[in-house]
Amino acid sequence: METPYFVIDQNKLADNLQELQEALAATFAKSIIGYSFKTNSVPWILDFMKCAGCYAEVVSDDEYQLAQKCGYAPDKIIYNGPAKSEATFADALAQGAIINLETHRELRWLEKYAMTGTKVGLRIQIDVETFCPGETAMGELGGRFGFQLAELPEILQQLQRLGVKLAGLHVHTSSRTRSLKVYQVLARESVAIIQQYQLNLDYLDIGGGFFGGDRAIPSFFDYMTVIRQQLQQLVNFTDLTLIVEPGASLIATPVSYVTSVIDVKRTPRQIYVTTDGTRLHLDHLFVKTSYQYQIRGQSAEDVVPQQIIAGFTCIENDHLFILKNAPLLKENQQIIYEKVGSYTMCFNPLFIKYFPAVYVKNDEGMKLVRRRWTVEDYVRGAK
Ligand SMILES: Cc1ncc(COP(=O)(O)O)c(C=O)c1O
Repeated sequence: METPYFVIDQNKLADNLQELQEALAATFAKSIIGYSFKTNSVPWILDFMKCAGCYAEVVSDDEYQLAQKCGYAPDKIIYNGPAKSEATFADALAQGAIINLETHRELRWLEKYAMTGTKVGLRIQIDVETFCPGETAMGELGGRFGFQLAELPEILQQLQRLGVKLAGLHVHTSSRTRSLKVYQVLARESVAIIQQYQLNLDYLDIGGGFFGGDRAIPSFFDYMTVIRQQLQQLVNFTDLTLIVEPGASLIATPVSYVTSVIDVKRTPRQIYVTTDGTRLHLDHLFVKTSYQYQIRGQSAEDVVPQQIIAGFTCIENDHLFILKNAPLLKENQQIIYEKVGSYTMCFNPLFIKYFPAVYVKNDEGMKLVRRRWTVEDYVRGAK
């Protein structure tokens, strides 16, 4: 098989999803899993999630259309984020998708498109940083998503005037720690808002951002227990649906990236091992600090103190990792990066070479689910 390529381990993916489903079934009477498309939207994965009963969590007009193209029923789409188009917003409203409002223009669109029986959700910003200092993605700068609590009375009045029901709150907050405390705070503050404004909601959407896979700690059950402990204070707790939007916690651990050594060079200062992979395929923002990897194939060469494992691109610092005190690698040896399924294969620039192939490994063997992109794919639409 020609490297580089990604491999999705279907059994591991199924195990991760089952663990989440069991955790939800043990803690909530009603729940929905909305798979976060942005985390990895390879169509095979979207189909797998759909067949397993997940909803689609989408954050742009393109992702909304992708969900439809992949056969998600309109009422099994959760439409979030600021990148909705007016046309897809109107379509989602008419077709009964779960829409969480994020921007002021959506409030204006509602004036045009609301009908009797229209329901919407609202993304509200909860200031998690105050309660969990240093844990949120943006720290002191604060997040930029969701309406401010101070805007809620006016929005509630508008919805009432239009005869639109506020069906849910959406409170996803990206954190660096993925800690239980973050979810405890999100649930606790949601309860306070619901009680203060006497909201009669169908759902609370707590978002994604969990750890998961490979017996992660906290476990899905730990997260759901913490959330439940807060939400059960609500009078309509048993009627409330908990929506979760997992991405990384389901898809990170089942995916590997297989590369081969194409050259070994001794320079006056270093030994560089060039591979046919690239950091751009795993970490195009160049922020990751380490990878879990395996080296396949024996090298009979002497042990050397340090080898820099690099990618094929012309970016000088396309370095993946430094291999210390190991036999000198040789051409065609494989380096396999593990647990690389989130924000990788659908978060690549089309730089120098196009998207690598994706395979699924299951009990029947290996199946190609995305062929390597060629120049034909690249120029399509450009003529
Ligand atoms: C609104 C929303 N939902 C879900 C997710 C998925 O998060 P993760 O892939 O960390 O589970 C994100 C990621 O940023 C998000 O912004």
